[in-house]
Amino acid sequence: MVVENKATVSFIRILKEDLSIMRIKPNDGPVPDFKAGQFVTLAHMNPTEGKMVRRAYSIASNPEQKKFFELLIRWVRKPLPGRLTTQLFNKKEGEEISWIKPTGIFTINDKMADGSPDNRRLVLIGGGTGLAPFISYTLHLKAINSKREIVVLHGASYVDELSYRELLTDLEEESLDKGKDNWNFRYRASISRPQESFNRSWGGQKGRVESFLRPKPGRDISPLEELVGEKITTENTSFYVCGWQGTVDGVLDYLVPKGFVTDRQKRSDGNYDVKFESYG
Ligand SMILES: Cc1cc2nc3c(=O)[nH]c(=O)nc-3n(C[C@H](O)[C@H](O)[C@H](O)COP(=O)(O)OP(=O)(O)OC[C@H]3O[C@@H](n4cnc5c(N)ncnc54)[C@H](O)[C@@H]3O)c2cc1C
Ligand SMILES: NC(=O)c1ccc[n+]([C@@H]2O[C@H](COP(=O)([O-])OP(=O)(O)OC[C@H]3O[C@@H](n4cnc5c(N)ncnc54)[C@H](OP(=O)(O)O)[C@@H]3O)[C@@H](O)[C@H]2O)c1
Repeated sequence: MVVENKATVSFIRILKEDLSIMRIKPNDGPVPDFKAGQFVTLAHMNPTEGKMVRRAYSIASNPEQKKFFELLIRWVRKPLPGRLTTQLFNKKEGEEISWIKPTGIFTINDKMADGSPDNRRLVLIGGGTGLAPFISYTLHLKAINSKREIVVLHGASYVDELSYRELLTDLEEESLDKGKDNWNFRYRASISRPQESFNRSWGGQKGRVESFLRPKPGRDISPLEELVGEKITTENTSFYVCGWQGTVDGVLDYLVPKGFVTDRQKRSDGNYDVKFESYG
């Protein structure tokens, strides 16, 4: 039976009219155990339908942090206002929301099929709010003192949608300060509507986030390979992708011809190189 719990909205940070970071604090004790990459289900009575509406939200906070769930939420406005997000964006700090315990399989693979550690570089590709699970991955890997190389690539339409930019930039600075042997982290973002005047100050990567994988005209190596300083292969890199299905497809279109396989089509030895979760 599905058990609905109560939580209190403890913090709201409006990034823009339709994009927010929200923290919800369980009313009856600490955040339960979960794995980085899982989602929590929020539930709210929809007054017009007279029934509960339940929706999944990737948890951006890490499992070691037990005070609240942090979520990155887009208010769905078109073609019709989303049933739950419209209610969530009307919530005020201190108000209650129902939640169902975390679940999901979009978690970090830390072992190869034979049980040996998977030490490959982690390339985490998030489109829009698809960044949320990778904030959880990153904070979790930091909390357990992981030495794996982590590259976060985030794609957004507008510069003010680069949620967590400050945190991720600081984590890269920390990697530079402490050295890669201690914390091996890099973050790059791409803006997909660079021609719009709001984005005129953007000097970084342009195009959708999957453009990090494709060599620019006249180059042999991709921006990602330039960043990590070597050719990307199935031996040295594993990929995690969260976003629109078009983002997942754009990444797979590039990786599959190079021999990368997903967890849904493992090799005969049980190994795989790419995991994804799409918005459908
Ligand atoms: C595993 C998972 C993780 C997720 N994580 C996140 C996350 O971290 N952040 C996040 O923001 N979202 C996340 N989502 C999406 C989230 O679960 C919801 O789907 C989303 O917030 C929209 O919910 P809603 O009730 O507001 O919209 P809905 O009411 O369900 O509407 C969804 C879409 O359908 C359209 N629609 C609804 N009714 C009609 C109609 N009658 N005719 C035509 N169109 C219609 C709406 O306009 C909208 O575009 C996740 C989803 C999954 C499966
Ligand atoms: N795990 C999940 O299922 C999950 C997680 C988070 C969010 N969601 C849901 O996804 C919806 C919107 O997400 P968002 O607001 O985060 O995304 P968004 O901000 O609209 O888009 C993010 C990036 O993806 C690009 N993009 C848009 N459509 C694409 C496509 N078809 N193929 C490839 N790239 C595409 C955008 O490029 P352009 O500038 O060119 O449009 C932009 O660079 C919301 O309804 C949210 O609730 C689901």
